[in-house]
Amino acid sequence: MANRLEGKVAAVTGGDQGIGRAIVERLAAEGADVALCYRSNKAGADEVAAAVQKTGRKAAAVQCDVGKVAEGQRFVDEAVRLLGRIDILVNNAGLERRADFWDVTEPDYDAVLDVNLKGPFFLTQAFVKHRMQAKSGGKVINISSVHEELPFPHFASYCASKGGIKMLTRNLSIELAPLGITINSIAPGAIETPINKKLLNDPVKLKSLLENIPLKRLGKPEDVASVAAFLASSDADYVTGTTYFVDGGLTWNYEEQ
Ligand code: BGC
Repeated sequence: MANRLEGKVAAVTGGDQGIGRAIVERLAAEGADVALCYRSNKAGADEVAAAVQKTGRKAAAVQCDVGKVAEGQRFVDEAVRLLGRIDILVNNAGLERRADFWDVTEPDYDAVLDVNLKGPFFLTQAFVKHRMQAKSGGKVINISSVHEELPFPHFASYCASKGGIKMLTRNLSIELAPLGITINSIAPGAIETPINKKLLNDPVKLKSLLENIPLKRLGKPEDVASVAAFLASSDADYVTGTTYFVDGGLTWNYEEQ
């Protein structure tokens, strides 16, 4: 494995499972020390941190609900205290709630928007202030979704949050460029992770989904992690304000029989 992130420190939200976990492990494998936060899965987070430490890198697991601004700030403060600084922020934590639009409740809307959009907004703000103090640049990577672009009926709040992330990424690419901070998004398609548990256990739904994916398989968390590692590295120094789709071709799949 290339050592593109030697000497760097990364902070990854929702690093205890799924895509976040694969990103933590991949960034560490490329040389970074990593702080990860988790909301409730302490066992998973401790396991990921221990796996990273075994490879000789530093790791710290911090409990935090990124949907609460003060907790996100505390994650940044803790990561800096424990690992010295943060060079790379990965806004990965996310959730979705299925409901017909007319049945969406305010608590469900808030749960989704707080974690998927407000969290990344204010965590990025805390990270940017930290980098300004350090008088140095940095990299922000947002884990968005193909649904920043593609409708997802019955997931209106999720789509609204991901559409918001798309424009936040574009907007901040301009505002943060003078600070030497790049910001990009990754838009995963159907990846085998806990967010998809129901779908993965439903053979009929799974079959119809696979028919929509030109590469004819679900993605793996590692498929997303490798793109995150690229965006976190100096190989991507001239890349900002854009979204990388990691979806097996799902988004633009169209054919007439
Ligand atoms: C969602 C999954 C969905 C996938 C493809 C992801 O953003 O979290 O539930 O299966 O997009 O539609």
